[in-house]
Amino acid sequence: MKISTKCLVCLILNLAVLTRSVECGKFWHISDIHYDIYYSLNKTTTNITCPSSYNYPSIDPGPWGDYNCDSNFRLINSSIYSMKSIEPTPDFILWTGDDVFHTDEEEKYLNVSLMYDIMSNVTSLIQEAFPDIQVFAALGNHDYLPKNEMPSTPNDIVANTALIWREWLTDDQYALFKETGYCSSITNHAPNLRVIVLNTNTWDLYNPTVTGTGDPAGQFKWFEEQLFLSKIAGNKVFIMGHIAPGFFERVVNETYFWPEYNKRYVKLVEQYKDVISGQFFAHHHTDSFKIFYDADKYPISVLYHVPSVTPRIGTRDGSVNPGVRLFHYEKATTEILDYTQYVFDLQAANDGQNAEWQVEYNFVETYGLPNVSAQSLHDLALKFKASETSGCKSSNDQCNADILQRYSLYNTVSYQKGYCDSICQRNFVCAMQAVDHQLYQDCVNSWNNAVGLRGFQFFGIYFAFGIVLLKF
Ligand SMILES: *[C@@H]1O[C@H](CO)[C@@H](O)[C@H](O)[C@H]1NC(C)=O
Ligand SMILES: *[C@@H]1O[C@H](CO)[C@@H](O)[C@H](O)[C@H]1NC(C)=O
Ligand SMILES: *[C@@H]1O[C@H](CO)[C@@H](O)[C@H](O)[C@H]1NC(C)=O
Ligand SMILES: *[C@@H]1O[C@H](CO)[C@@H](O)[C@H](O)[C@H]1NC(C)=O
Ligand SMILES: *[C@@H]1O[C@H](CO)[C@@H](O)[C@H](O)[C@H]1NC(C)=O
Ligand SMILES: *[C@@H]1O[C@H](CO)[C@@H](O)[C@H](O)[C@H]1NC(C)=O
Ligand SMILES: *[C@@H]1O[C@H](CO)[C@@H](O)[C@H](O)[C@H]1NC(C)=O
Ligand SMILES: [Zn+2]
Ligand SMILES: [Zn+2]
Repeated sequence: MKISTKCLVCLILNLAVLTRSVECGKFWHISDIHYDIYYSLNKTTTNITCPSSYNYPSIDPGPWGDYNCDSNFRLINSSIYSMKSIEPTPDFILWTGDDVFHTDEEEKYLNVSLMYDIMSNVTSLIQEAFPDIQVFAALGNHDYLPKNEMPSTPNDIVANTALIWREWLTDDQYALFKETGYCSSITNHAPNLRVIVLNTNTWDLYNPTVTGTGDPAGQFKWFEEQLFLSKIAGNKVFIMGHIAPGFFERVVNETYFWPEYNKRYVKLVEQYKDVISGQFFAHHHTDSFKIFYDADKYPISVLYHVPSVTPRIGTRDGSVNPGVRLFHYEKATTEILDYTQYVFDLQAANDGQNAEWQVEYNFVETYGLPNVSAQSLHDLALKFKASETSGCKSSNDQCNADILQRYSLYNTVSYQKGYCDSICQRNFVCAMQAVDHQLYQDCVNSWNNAVGLRGFQFFGIYFAFGIVLLKF
């Protein structure tokens, strides 16, 4: 099944480009494991089975976890070993951080040595399952204690993490990474492809140790150099990191980069659009993408947000099904062709029905597009924009035929089956089409104005009450 999907992609490509033979490659992207070592089925009087639920009662705790808790070991082990059984020899693996569980009582449940144990445990697991595979690992905001507070200066936690990841780094990469949390590397199987691993924690709006000005750890300077040198060398790059530029698609106006850094990042993407073949991020725990445009509104680059292994959406109330993703790309051009999103139906697994990781969807097949390029995703965004949200009031079969509703379902890895209304549609489309802060405001405002007076008042109420009413 997986092999035929891959071949199909290559076949289509071959038909399109008859004169050259095409070699396809695959790579995994996994993220936001958030290992909660305390998850326990021992019921307490408050029905709270884990510290990662932030005192919300469990939903349906079972051997594989709970929708209000971070991942237990069984779920994590299952995610990694299922990746191994589905595709044991990817060209490489992208792993975009957040290994430690969420809790608002860090003093009670966490300490630095426990954090290292968690990171070492997951690292060893990946190394055991994929012994000879190149792994690129980035730091998340939960790979530091206290969470979100990673400083831009050299520190013990980043240095010790570099030691945990030592065997994935060359001497030079290790020397740089232990001081900064960033590095870059050419891939083993696509010799003109460089992966740039960013440490976006120092660009994080919620990081109190940075001020949003200047160039923390000289990362922008280094980043630009990497892009420039890749351009000179005729190489292509994949950019990966944990926290991404732009906006979170499930609520209005939520962003995680400091404005100045957001601007700077967007500018670099525009400047080096010909060098960048893809951007791979996480942090939201949901499945989405962002399109970058040039000054002429021409689509130039895509940022893919991979959903999490943990079923909990940390930044907000809400849950997802655990997911991992297999990308297909063309080795020579490094162009991303397609991806297959895998899902673990936590409810079904806990009910004893099915504890297998299954194909949730295949992008090209589902949306009937030739590939997942900026142009293709731009075309898709226009369809989402044009989707009629008023005629369809429930998530019956007819509504699921609507691609916006389908996108909405996949956004939580098929967990939340609610109807995506016009506000949800606006939030999705604006987050998808406007990474720049000003463009995003313009998108939201023009959408609201287009809805007219009645709609404007309606939106006004939503703005006034914020997320209280935006219950997804
Ligand atoms: C459940 O609680 C009992 C008693 O506190 C303890 O002995 C046992 O190890 C716990 N089980 C799990 C799975 O945590
Ligand atoms: C615990 O959960 C059960 C089942 O969902 C519920 O009936 C009960 O009221 C809950 N107890 C507490 C203390 O929340
Ligand atoms: C992880 O899962 C694999 C495959 O099911 C199994 O062989 C292995 O024993 C598990 N590891 C642990 C530590 O439970
Ligand atoms: C860290 O926390 C773990 C788990 O609670 C505990 O066993 C360990 O003793 C703690 N270590 C330190 C250095 O406090
Ligand atoms: C990770 O932790 C689990 C649960 O304690 C343990 O069973 C497993 O052996 C550990 N795996 C590694 C690779 O350290
Ligand atoms: C969004 O955030 C910006 C910057 O904080 C603020 O100026 C603007 O009013 C907000 N817009 C909405 C719709 O909340
Ligand atoms: C990807 O699809 C676009 C149309 O959306 C097309 O222009 C482009 O040539 C395709 N790229 C490849 C590598 O097939
Ligand atoms: Zn996370
Ligand atoms: Zn995060």
